[in-house]
Amino acid sequence: MSKQLHAHWSSRLTFVLAATGSAVGLGNIWKFPYMVGESGGAAFVLVYLVCIALIGLPILVAEWLLGRRGQKNPINTMSELARHNGLSRGWTLVGISGVLGAFLILSFYSVIGGWSLSYTLGAVTGEFSGLDADGVGGLFNGMLASPGVLLGWHSLFMILTIGIVARGVTSGLEGAVRTLMPALAVLLVILIGYGMTTGHFGEAMNYLFNPEWSKLTGTTVLAALGHAFFTLSLGMGIMMAYGSYLGEEVNLLKTARTVVIMDTVIALGAGLAIFPIVFANGLDLASGPGLIFVTLPLAFGNMDGGVILGLMFFLLLTFAALTSAISLLEPVVEFVEERTPLARVGATLVAGAGAWALGIAALLSFNVWSEPLVFGLDVFNLLDTLTSKFMLPLTGLGAILFTAWRLDRRSVQSELGLSGGSATLWQLVTRFVAPLGVIVVFVGSL
Ligand code: PFF
Repeated sequence: MSKQLHAHWSSRLTFVLAATGSAVGLGNIWKFPYMVGESGGAAFVLVYLVCIALIGLPILVAEWLLGRRGQKNPINTMSELARHNGLSRGWTLVGISGVLGAFLILSFYSVIGGWSLSYTLGAVTGEFSGLDADGVGGLFNGMLASPGVLLGWHSLFMILTIGIVARGVTSGLEGAVRTLMPALAVLLVILIGYGMTTGHFGEAMNYLFNPEWSKLTGTTVLAALGHAFFTLSLGMGIMMAYGSYLGEEVNLLKTARTVVIMDTVIALGAGLAIFPIVFANGLDLASGPGLIFVTLPLAFGNMDGGVILGLMFFLLLTFAALTSAISLLEPVVEFVEERTPLARVGATLVAGAGAWALGIAALLSFNVWSEPLVFGLDVFNLLDTLTSKFMLPLTGLGAILFTAWRLDRRSVQSELGLSGGSATLWQLVTRFVAPLGVIVVFVGSL
């Protein structure tokens, strides 16, 4: 199966940047802190870290390995690998669910990307200056209450995503990730520094790292697992697609470790930047998806140089969101391109327009269509729950089961450079620990 069907990454660094660009996004800076806030702090964080190490990392490696062997889009990769190994075509479902999941996530991801764009403008025009907690909350709620405003920003974000993907992801983007990701890290450090001046940094540390186990529920554990998938872009064909552009020389385990560490450090850093501000201003920890939008502007509006820092922060957040959104659109586009007569640009427009339309239903959840649709969930929460809690874990489970139980064990071990104890450990984790972890959490939650 060594037939090379399409281009490969120019270097390991490029691959690491693209994978990190996909992994590090709104999930780290927007979603992780509010999930921690809703789930009661450190107990959630610890479960999340365990999920990342024992489940996320092995599945990341498995998805890359499958992609590299298949050398095609996730759906064809899975059907071809199944055929090649004399297995059921049913495994193709893993690829299908991956591509569908990416499409669904993109629709609501773009809505939040739009919030980030809107706040970038807000920072430039000095909208946050001198605002108190009520003022910042009012600003955010004002945005949510207006379907037109949300639609405008969602559309702009989607147009940017489509524009980049239509042209193909070039070295220009890779170059940008190379400078902007470190810049984001520096800004986070500055914000953490600001958090230290609020006098509530210790409280935030305690909240993030000192668990109160009584706060842990089945729902929390499922949420932690789902987020481990979301934040590493697992379970939706992205990493499989990225693996298909990968050459033989790249060490998958080492590369996965790098990506996972960067992703985790940025998420924890976001928590350390945000919670001191939440505590210092008596804000609601469980304010959900609005959390960073009602906390950070308070810091920016009341600190020296806040206008420029706020601008940089939301610009970089937008950029992190864009590099992830691109990775969400890519497998859908590949799929449309291969299954219809459409060429790249047409396929991108169709896939992007579809996600944009679904995104409109999601953004109406914040205002005119806030009644629950099914299971007490509005469209936005339905899309989030369906993907994060169901599709991603199940698709990831399929990928790891296939790799661990269906591919030749020795060839996988030699591909990963494993022998002796490390091979046994890999075997144990991928055959039992990771799949059982997903299954137990999943079944427990039902
Ligand atoms: N991992 C991205 C984040 O944490 O924001 C979100 C994401 C990107 C999820 C790409 C899934 C994906 F395929």
